Amino acid sequence: MQAKKRISEAVIRRLPRYLRYIGELKDNGIEKVSSSQLGEKMGMTASQIRQDFSYFGGFGQQGYGYSVQLLFDSMKQILLKDQGFTVIIIGAGNLGTALAKYNNFHDRGFDIIGIFDINPKLIGKTINSNEIMCIDKLEDFISEHQPDIAILSLPRSETKDIAVRVANSGVKGLFNFSPMDLKLPHDIPIENVHLSDSLMVLGYKIKNFQEEK
Ligand code: NAI
Repeated sequence: MQAKKRISEAVIRRLPRYLRYIGELKDNGIEKVSSSQLGEKMGMTASQIRQDFSYFGGFGQQGYGYSVQLLFDSMKQILLKDQGFTVIIIGAGNLGTALAKYNNFHDRGFDIIGIFDINPKLIGKTINSNEIMCIDKLEDFISEHQPDIAILSLPRSETKDIAVRVANSGVKGLFNFSPMDLKLPHDIPIENVHLSDSLMVLGYKIKNFQEEK
């Protein structure tokens, strides 16, 4: 059997952006787009776009432009499973609550099916029709519902232990918000999300921009 071509991390990271831009074109009723039009919109060169698309079979005739609907459907298929992903949130504090209320996850195919916390004052409360469950129920819930992804919005001190528990229970990927780059011995994908990193990059750019002026 032929080995599957490995796609670089940089290309993978561009895919959600493609989906977002192509989704906008689709919503605006645009049916065809060329690689140069798309490149202009996204601040990329036409050849870079064609090169990225070539990893996935090219998505049709460049000369006539790409079908926006086909691009959109293909990107969705590449990024999402047919039935989407199921997600649990662990830590229902400020961030966990905000994430649980963010309907865009659902619209993108990520369905929140469980929320956990250790605080008795939170357990039993409901966020977006999900009742917050006691963390003691974590393993039983995972075994019964087999969620794909766990979002970790916990204090830093708790994150590693809980991450190991969910990974041992068979969750397939972790979305970690705790201020550390989480690494586990388990062979599962982990996305570490640090808003303050982006904010600091913005700060750096502002500082340099002002110094240059
Ligand atoms: P928070 O204190 O409001 O919420 C943490 C929740 O975790 C609490 O409800 C607490 O009861 C629960 N918890 C503690 N130990 C637990 C355990 N063993 N099992 C289950 N639940 C447990 O804190 P906040 O503001 O929501 O932040 C959560 C984490 O996210 C922190 O580590 C914070 O530094 C981080 N954070 C990261 C951001 C990012 O961009 N990566 C942005 C904002 C916060």
